[in-house]
Amino acid sequence: MALNLIMLGPPGAGKGTQAERFAKTKGIPKISTGDILREAVQTGTELGKRAKAIMERGELVSDEIVVGIVRERLDRADVKPGFILDGFPRTVPQARALDGIMAGRDPLIVLNIDVAEDELIRRLTTRFVCKNCGSNAAVGDAAATTAPCAKCGGPMVQRADDNAAVVVERLKTYRRDTKPLVEFYGSRPTYRSVNGAQAPNTVTAELEAAVAALCKATSGARA
Ligand code: AP5
Repeated sequence: MALNLIMLGPPGAGKGTQAERFAKTKGIPKISTGDILREAVQTGTELGKRAKAIMERGELVSDEIVVGIVRERLDRADVKPGFILDGFPRTVPQARALDGIMAGRDPLIVLNIDVAEDELIRRLTTRFVCKNCGSNAAVGDAAATTAPCAKCGGPMVQRADDNAAVVVERLKTYRRDTKPLVEFYGSRPTYRSVNGAQAPNTVTAELEAAVAALCKATSGARA
């Protein structure tokens, strides 16, 4: 059975951190719409030019654009054993479109990471990422502003949308457009929410336990 995962949660909940770990341990691709859009902005493609100002205001790129990106990505052969979506879906129309894309495939497992807003603001406004490869500095690494990226040696910078004013907008956007997905998916038997305000390894362990239990239940139901 393919391991088809979605990582839901507000900005700064740890979706990217945890998705990266799953991608490594499970050998499945991590598909982050935020990373795809940031790369387009950095390389100055048509898509990047359209997305740049929207992202810097903390708003969402149109459903049409991101659904197109994800539809094309999920058509590739490397997602056959599964995938982990980070930052998609982010609206109810995107979630409906994803259900359409998933028709006839193995079920989606939906993982929500829950963290209070004051902690999200703290994490995002103190986050440093690599300018070249986008990796986060290690959690709680106070030297991150001066140390080069542990992965590729690139310089560490703040993301354009991580200043306090834009973070407040991103949280507003989350509450209005993305939080309704908790209700959209919440009644499905393949949905689980974990407390993301714990040490990263504890969050990973809880997510892994949830996935193992959901896979067992799903394959039992299909047998
Ligand atoms: P995107 O890149 O998806 O940003 P986001 O959802 O705001 O999420 P972040 O990457 O900021 O946070 P995260 O939850 O991944 O947390 P992370 O692991 O990095 O989207 C950016 C923009 O692109 C959007 O605003 C929108 O404009 C556009 N976009 C993207 N997808 C779209 C879509 N589907 N539709 C429309 N527009 C779209 O962790 C955060 C920090 O906390 C890090 O420093 C990390 O080290 C630290 N941390 C992680 N876990 C812990 C922990 N357990 N304890 C302490 N610190 C932790």
